[in-house]
Amino acid sequence: MARRKKIYEGKAKILYEGPEPGTLVQYFKDDATAFNAEKRDVIDGKGVLNNRLSEFFMTGLNTIGVPTHFIRRLNMREQLVRAVEIIPLEVVVRNVAAGSISKRLGIEEGTPMPRPIVEFYFKDDDLGDPIVSEEHIIAFQWATQQDLDDMIALALRVNDFMSGCMLSVGIQLVDFKIEVGRIFEGDYQRLVVADEISPDSCRLWDVKTGQKLDKDVFRRDLGNLADAYTEVARRLGVLPQTATPMTKPTLIN
Ligand code: TMP
Ligand code: ASP
Repeated sequence: MARRKKIYEGKAKILYEGPEPGTLVQYFKDDATAFNAEKRDVIDGKGVLNNRLSEFFMTGLNTIGVPTHFIRRLNMREQLVRAVEIIPLEVVVRNVAAGSISKRLGIEEGTPMPRPIVEFYFKDDDLGDPIVSEEHIIAFQWATQQDLDDMIALALRVNDFMSGCMLSVGIQLVDFKIEVGRIFEGDYQRLVVADEISPDSCRLWDVKTGQKLDKDVFRRDLGNLADAYTEVARRLGVLPQTATPMTKPTLIN
């Protein structure tokens, strides 16, 4: 069989040419990086967990009418997605202060936001993904005003869905990041949620204990990252309820 063509390799995923035009295969690696890849490790089983968790969230979003690039999971590490043109912005929604907003504005971690705050960061590793304003985005033509309005609406719908999903299993959605892609259908363009939604791109705190169940476990050396992600997957029913946290996850199907 001919080797399939690699389209792009990022820090946590690889994109390959898909089986049909307009599709890609998204492969989840076990690599973990933080602080723009200054800190890196390989976490056994992380890619398998994120593939399943991203499938779970994207499928839920598709079901409630929030468009995503996700088509279907192919195997333990791969999913079929629609090829999109990624808008070069990271869209962050914050419900509670943590991470960079706490540092930048001196807000104590754990302080609730007065309302969900949407922020944009310019996707450029060499610059360290700097925060940008709507003025920058429009002036430099990274996106139009219409795109921005649509991205904010998408991000807030994702926030409502994800917050509810998480709260139902005793987890608070503190913040998250999404990426948005354009799909062209004739003259018409629409925006969809792309990339991944997983504990790599969210902050998740146990409602009762405040225990961190996201990539901060790795960023801040708080314990075993795969155990934290396994706990999220188990609570959401993506893993059998009887499973206890372990490094090598046992997955249904
Ligand atoms: P921050 O507090 O570091 O700005 O991160 C906000 C949210 O965005 C947090 O849930 C982690 C996520 N995030 C990513 O997914 N990728 C990144 O490169 C960064 C910096 C944050
Ligand atoms: N994903 C980014 C990195 O590799 C930053 C982060 O998530 O903290 O380095």
